[in-house]
Amino acid sequence: MNHKFPAKIFIDGGVPEETNQAKKLLGFLDGQTTNPSLIAKNLKSRLGNGQPVLLTESMALEEYKRIVTEMNLIIPQGSISIQVFVDQETKAEEMLEQARERNKWIPNASIKFPCISEGLKAAEIACREMPINITLVFSQSQAAAVYESTKNAKFPVFISPFVGRLDDKGENGMQVIENILRMYKEGNRHIEVLTASVRNIDHILYALHLRSNIITIPLKVFSSWADLGFKMPEENYTYPVGALKAIHYNQDIVLGKNWQEYDLQHELTDKGVSSFWSDWMGLF
Ligand code: G3P
Repeated sequence: MNHKFPAKIFIDGGVPEETNQAKKLLGFLDGQTTNPSLIAKNLKSRLGNGQPVLLTESMALEEYKRIVTEMNLIIPQGSISIQVFVDQETKAEEMLEQARERNKWIPNASIKFPCISEGLKAAEIACREMPINITLVFSQSQAAAVYESTKNAKFPVFISPFVGRLDDKGENGMQVIENILRMYKEGNRHIEVLTASVRNIDHILYALHLRSNIITIPLKVFSSWADLGFKMPEENYTYPVGALKAIHYNQDIVLGKNWQEYDLQHELTDKGVSSFWSDWMGLF
């Protein structure tokens, strides 16, 4: 990392032009995250012209590949997260097949798997073959499972807790980042914590303050941060929790067990899996 920020700065989006704009604003970008909803949104607006889009699945996949290839040209050194498309029925083998294929699209791909049982089963194997990113993480317990399932990784592993979606339901999403970083201090630090689902400047400032390894920021928030001169948190920065409900650190969740022993269940993970799936399938 060759810049003043204590975290890698990524853009979250599905449009290469946004990657370009963010890079121009900041002067560099360390990476990019994408997801099925963001890609579907891009394809709908660009190909649809307001009319229903008539795509086949293989055409849409080609478009996903073209989009990340374009992003790769803008940030050739940057990591670019590409997600597998799954529902609750998808088996680990099928996810792995998709992952191996997507990993060939560009040189710096990081393949995103959802934080569900089949996703971690796939990730356990994939992390020895390619960089990976575990997405739709909402709890300390899920983070413990991610940690243990990827402990034999030979490539970078990211974990993506979605802070904004927890805030949306009145809970303090940033506290999950805090808790995961605290729990991971006990381990060998093979995982980089990527603050995702960023909604505002305070998410950025607190993530920088906490030393989250990576922050992925949508262009709208990126531009507001640019308007503030890419402000950094003061030494005595305190996060404005407001009315958000606390998510306390759980001392009973400790690293060192088999990943299958940790509770993976979270309603927002299930909701996220089905909305990524329906946004993607809605294209056909
Ligand atoms: O890329 C994943 C993530 O950042 C999604 O954000 O706004 O849909 O909760 P959001």
